[in-house]
Amino acid sequence: MIDDVIRARRTHKSFGPKPVSRAVLEELFELARWAPNHHRTNPWRFRVLGPQSLERLKEAAGPAEAPKLERAPTLVLASAALSGDLIQDEEDVCATACAIYAVLLGAHARGLASYWRTPRVLRTRAGREALGVPEGERVLGLVHLGTRKSEPPPPERAPIESFVSQLP
Ligand SMILES: Cc1cc2nc3c(=O)[nH]c(=O)nc-3n(C[C@H](O)[C@H](O)[C@H](O)COP(=O)(O)O)c2cc1C
Repeated sequence: MIDDVIRARRTHKSFGPKPVSRAVLEELFELARWAPNHHRTNPWRFRVLGPQSLERLKEAAGPAEAPKLERAPTLVLASAALSGDLIQDEEDVCATACAIYAVLLGAHARGLASYWRTPRVLRTRAGREALGVPEGERVLGLVHLGTRKSEPPPPERAPIESFVSQLP
């Protein structure tokens, strides 16, 4: 049931060494296509990092941060292609977040581990250039994917009353 997939997905910070196959990645990106998006702009962009891109990103990150980029065998840069219209851009960032979540849920449903990370290097010009991100794209994160190594405990969740209210 979808409820179980939503509740049981966890952020994993350690992974087995086996990369996610091209076929499974394609299944996950196919799920992303179904994210809601206003005016059907399909704003999400996913770039699967190959070894050379990873090396370039590690160089841009520097020696202190680079080892953290090696935690997962498969890394996918997720970004939103923006139009320059402020309202549309805000909606496209939201739609891209939905698409990323679809990927995370799809990965979990397939028994994979995932981690949505926003490393500092992706906010730098060097980091963007390392991955060839053009102007006009907003980077939303580096999606880590791989096999599960452990089962992280669920972090505490805020009670429903703290974020839901009834309007008159
Ligand atoms: C937009 C976004 C960015 C995130 N960036 C990071 C990050 O840079 N580092 C990190 O440790 N976790 C990051 N996370 C993961 C959250 O910390 C994690 O979802 C939260 O602790 C709840 O854990 P859970 O995913 O297992 O439910 C990010 C999550 C989102 C949605």
